[in-house]
Amino acid sequence: MAQPRFTRVWFLTGCSSGLGKLFVSAIVARGDKVIATARDITTLSEFEHNEDVRLLRLDVTETQDILNEIATKAIQVFGHIDVLVNNAGYVLSHVWEETRQSDLLHQFNTNVFGPLNLTRAFLPHMRSRRSGTVIFMSSIAAWLGVAVGGPYSASKFALEGSVESLEKEVAPFGVHVHLAVLGQFRTAILESTRRKTDRTLESISDYDGAVEAFQTRLEQTNGKQPGDPVQAVERVVDAVCRTGHFAGYENIPLRIVLGSDAIEIIRDQCQGMLRDLEGQQELARSTDFLGEAKLGDINNFVAYVFYHPRFQFCSKLQEVE
Ligand SMILES: NC(=O)c1ccc[n+]([C@@H]2O[C@H](COP(=O)([O-])OP(=O)(O)OC[C@H]3O[C@@H](n4cnc5c(N)ncnc54)[C@H](OP(=O)(O)O)[C@@H]3O)[C@@H](O)[C@H]2O)c1
Repeated sequence: MAQPRFTRVWFLTGCSSGLGKLFVSAIVARGDKVIATARDITTLSEFEHNEDVRLLRLDVTETQDILNEIATKAIQVFGHIDVLVNNAGYVLSHVWEETRQSDLLHQFNTNVFGPLNLTRAFLPHMRSRRSGTVIFMSSIAAWLGVAVGGPYSASKFALEGSVESLEKEVAPFGVHVHLAVLGQFRTAILESTRRKTDRTLESISDYDGAVEAFQTRLEQTNGKQPGDPVQAVERVVDAVCRTGHFAGYENIPLRIVLGSDAIEIIRDQCQGMLRDLEGQQELARSTDFLGEAKLGDINNFVAYVFYHPRFQFCSKLQEVE
């Protein structure tokens, strides 16, 4: 006899366009339920009468108290939340010397603190149910810093570091955490109306060349990105539901890397880093206290033990190898 299908309830941010809106369609097409949020919910009018979709207004930069209230309200809609997708985000690109602190803070509030605060709002619910999945949208920008791309890169680097720790903290409670690390996908993200690239009034002429080259590259890339956003969304949904490419998977990696450009960039970065490490072995050892345990005696190195993934309490809080 066929098993009844498990219906999940999803909570999504940033659904007014791009990947967020595609997520809503993909989730509904699978027969799941979704609370779709946007700063302006009139952008989601096509889902207004769909009984599997509820629309909520949400700016992810709201205070923790407001995010907590929204989470409580969202949980009441269908009785629980199985999956949180932290999708909202935007690109701020400036050279660092011209970047205003207020703009940088807004970039981090949207791309880093908002997703983490919202996750904090849903975690008590997921922990108490010993079940849940949280997805964070990351980028190759988290792997490669390019000139003039610093603020966006910094936000996604910070997000990846935060999520890497979070995963280890919540795994013992049945909460799965993943980073969808995307290459360049053909959404509106690079449209001049969406990305924040305007230079300040005090722009520094020394950087004109770099800024113009960067802007030209963004304009040339916009609309020609190699990645199909429909496919990206399907792969992420498959990862959560263990269907399609992920059918039969017991463990999904922390990073779900999407786009052939993403694989190449991340591989190049890792290989470059390994090459850098090769030349630094002796240099690194030269700063250890002399006469004490060597790196081989890893049990004696508290810091090493803390950071070495061989040790269970790094990957799971409770057990030590
Ligand atoms: N497309 C790519 O190539 C790519 C690559 C790597 C990572 N990503 C990531 O994927 C996610 C979605 O991007 P996308 O390509 O779908 O771009 P998009 O079409 O520009 O969508 C971004 C969404 O985020 C929303 N948003 C921005 N600030 C918000 C805030 N403070 N509160 C709530 N919503 C907010 C936007 O809403 P408004 O309409 O209100 O502005 C919009 O719905 C982002 O996190 C992005 O960094 C995209």
